[in-house]
Amino acid sequence: MTKPLHTELPLNPHVAALPPYNAGMNIAAARLRSGREDIAALASNENPDGCSPTVAAALAGLNPARYCDPACTALRAALGDKLGVATDRIVVGNGSEEMIAAVCRAVLRPGATVATLCPGFGLHEIEALANGALVEKIAMRADLDFDVPAIVEALGRAPAIFFLSSPSNPVGPALDRESLDRIVASVRPETLLVLDEAYFEFTDDDLPDGLAVLSASALSFVVLRTFSKAYGLAGLRVGYAVTSDARLALAMTGAKTPFNVNAAAQAAALAALTDEAWMHASVSRLKAERTRIAKAIAAMGLPTARSQTNFLFIDVGRDSQAAMDHFLSQGIIVKPWKEKGFETFIRMTIGTQADNDRFLAALKALVAA
Ligand SMILES: Cc1ncc(COP(=O)(O)O)c(C=O)c1O
Repeated sequence: MTKPLHTELPLNPHVAALPPYNAGMNIAAARLRSGREDIAALASNENPDGCSPTVAAALAGLNPARYCDPACTALRAALGDKLGVATDRIVVGNGSEEMIAAVCRAVLRPGATVATLCPGFGLHEIEALANGALVEKIAMRADLDFDVPAIVEALGRAPAIFFLSSPSNPVGPALDRESLDRIVASVRPETLLVLDEAYFEFTDDDLPDGLAVLSASALSFVVLRTFSKAYGLAGLRVGYAVTSDARLALAMTGAKTPFNVNAAAQAAALAALTDEAWMHASVSRLKAERTRIAKAIAAMGLPTARSQTNFLFIDVGRDSQAAMDHFLSQGIIVKPWKEKGFETFIRMTIGTQADNDRFLAALKALVAA
């Protein structure tokens, strides 16, 4: 007998009305859907190289019976040393996504305004809505770059938070120094600028380090970074926020669950920081692959945004969901974009050379169809 639905139970209306998060399909689901074993997972911007071998060694010594350190003391100290930031300005999260939720919870009151980009990272909108905020989306330019004048104009309306991902997910470009300076100069004292640098490690050396630029300003800010992408720890869930001041970090700490970063994630992130050479080598290889794939896609005549990340945003000129189904039939997972105006775009993560070649062959077949 099926249980009756409890339709009477009042739910938080902000949460009940949330749009779904457009998560990339996982490998098990792709096997079921495609009937194939040889899945190329190119939807979630994971690192196909895995992670540093130091991580496995660090995980071997764990005692799962003990609670983890709720303050992530050792990891915050290591991050503080690396970044030259006092540890009381750093908060570690169960992925940087938890820090997006924490900053919204710490700062927003119902009816507040949050501004972000479109297309953009879904949680910048979803976590704001969950806290009763109204969300204004600033479109990227038609040539798939940041519309700096529109961002400046939106900042003039003094939203409570401006979520800005640079490099942009899903589009790919990163702000240059002049653009970032213009944006920083336009932030009003009532606004918290959240600069999401999930793909920071992939940016070229001539582009600005957002944390350094914001630290030299008088703004209230949060910079978000993660171990999920360049460091290859997506499954363990560890990311962090660097805040402009300890008061903000304390408020975000209060807004998260106490034991949010499990012992394996803390140990893995600490180990990964001891082997940055592995990360840099992986990033170099992925960037070289990105250049190769972008050239091959351009040769097919498809528009692709310039990327400072480990993915490409490609206009395949037809419904993105239908395109995704085509790739899935070949055992390849890509992410179909669903935001209004971008429904013909897919986002493809740079994978192993072999998986990228499979993607190119399937794309060629799609274009020819
Ligand atoms: C821009 C951006 N921010 C935050 C995240 C969240 O990453 P994680 O929670 O794995 O640290 C992602 C993941 O794709 C992202 O693309």
